[in-house]
Amino acid sequence: MLISEDGWRLVVSGPTWSMKRAILFALVIFLASGPFAGAQESYRTDEEELAPIELLGKRVFEDKTLSRPAGVACASCHQARQAYQGNNGSPIAAVARGAVPHALGKRNTPTIMYASFSPPFNFVEERDARTGHSEMIPLGGQFHDGHAATLTEQVAGPLFDPNEMNAASKKDVVERIRLGPYADLLRQVFDENIFNNSDEAFVKLSQAVAAFESSSRFHPFSSKFDDYLRGKAELSPLERKGFVLFKDPKKGNCLSCHVGKEDSRNPQDWLFTDFTYDALGGPKNKQLMRVSKPDLGLCEQPELVKKIPLQKDRDSFCGAFKVPTLRNIAQTSPYLHNGFFTKLRDVVAFYATRDTQPARWFPSNSKGLVEKFNDLPRSLRGNVNITEAPYDRGLNQSPRLSEGEISAITAFLATLTDHEKH
Ligand code: HEC
Ligand code: HEC
Repeated sequence: MLISEDGWRLVVSGPTWSMKRAILFALVIFLASGPFAGAQESYRTDEEELAPIELLGKRVFEDKTLSRPAGVACASCHQARQAYQGNNGSPIAAVARGAVPHALGKRNTPTIMYASFSPPFNFVEERDARTGHSEMIPLGGQFHDGHAATLTEQVAGPLFDPNEMNAASKKDVVERIRLGPYADLLRQVFDENIFNNSDEAFVKLSQAVAAFESSSRFHPFSSKFDDYLRGKAELSPLERKGFVLFKDPKKGNCLSCHVGKEDSRNPQDWLFTDFTYDALGGPKNKQLMRVSKPDLGLCEQPELVKKIPLQKDRDSFCGAFKVPTLRNIAQTSPYLHNGFFTKLRDVVAFYATRDTQPARWFPSNSKGLVEKFNDLPRSLRGNVNITEAPYDRGLNQSPRLSEGEISAITAFLATLTDHEKH
């Protein structure tokens, strides 16, 4: 703290001009470095560029009166200054605090930047260029397990989740908005009579939130990497080395799931996900309350059986989660759907040594055997991907990435942080 007790007392007793200047200077430094440094933050809070429907979406997104009890908004867990991720001050970093006292969520909050690029959840045909073999694979949707097909459908999820916003009903949400400060904006954007039918009004509100989440501040493409693609910035030698390893099918092979179009310099072709699903076998996070019930991901998506192609078995999707974007990854700790990892470098090291040194990541059982993939029931551990690089190695083989290479990939990942105002 730069302003001393004495400094304040001087103000009271009438400071000279030079004292005032000193105080002003100290205040400027304090504001620029302290918790009020908002003016210098890189995220966007302005509203001028938003279309009316996006502005309406922002009002709903930031409305803390919709939760029961009041106090939690979408923005409480998806904070602009943390790449629209966060945990609402939870005592357990991996899961967010909800509106009801002591309520904690079940999964780690993902960033919702770039989420508007996820196509609606579906099974699509994928053809292996090498073998010519094609199969139907799950793709897209919102949430770690895709259980909402689209951004519009997603909105009801957190609103009515008792561990998140705990709202009573669509009718109740719409009624609160009707009596609140932006009711006229809703009428203006949609229809004078919008409040007459609360189910319809709820769909419209959800569309407005989705429109806000699809606005450019959620996908500014303003990272160092984007500038590198545009030919406006250079990667450092370490970052460049990391990028090469990230792409190399025999080294990181990260690009095979965290996709980008190798021959394109258009940032939009580099979302660092193809929105497919994979079972990574991350370690169990013992801090979570789920101890008695493992999180099986995609196979527990309600109604999945109705969507699965005939030749596939529901259980084969257990343990699979959506491939997340890696954009802004340096800002969105903790990592994985269960928030097990707090350091980004550890995630990369896990990829490299999950199978060569499993004891580094998984606990041992009473017989002294390492319990690999301990976040899944034993019968489903066979679903974990052990065939693709970098996790296609065996016990005590040399990992696909050395410690130096792990650091290089981590350095590259830090170039994916958006910088301009967004
Ligand atoms: C209490 C914290 C919390 C609140 C409040 C909250 N979210 Fe989330 N959000 C999460 C968590 C946790 C997940 C992941 C849940 C899962 O996968 O099952 C998530 C997932 C999402 C996703 C999916 C992103 C993706 O890439 O799959 C979107 C979009 C989203 N939230 C938007 C919203 C909106 C809109 C609201 C307000 C109506 C909201 N959230 C309120 C914690 C929260
Ligand atoms: C076969 C597909 C696949 C490959 C290859 C792959 N990933 Fe992933 N990655 C995933 C999936 C799926 C998740 C989410 C897993 C979960 O939440 O349990 C993930 C999660 C992550 C996360 C955490 C993201 C977050 O927001 O929590 C990071 C970081 C990451 N991967 C980096 C990498 C790097 C670096 C490489 C290469 C060394 C790589 N990945 C290779 C599929 C893959």
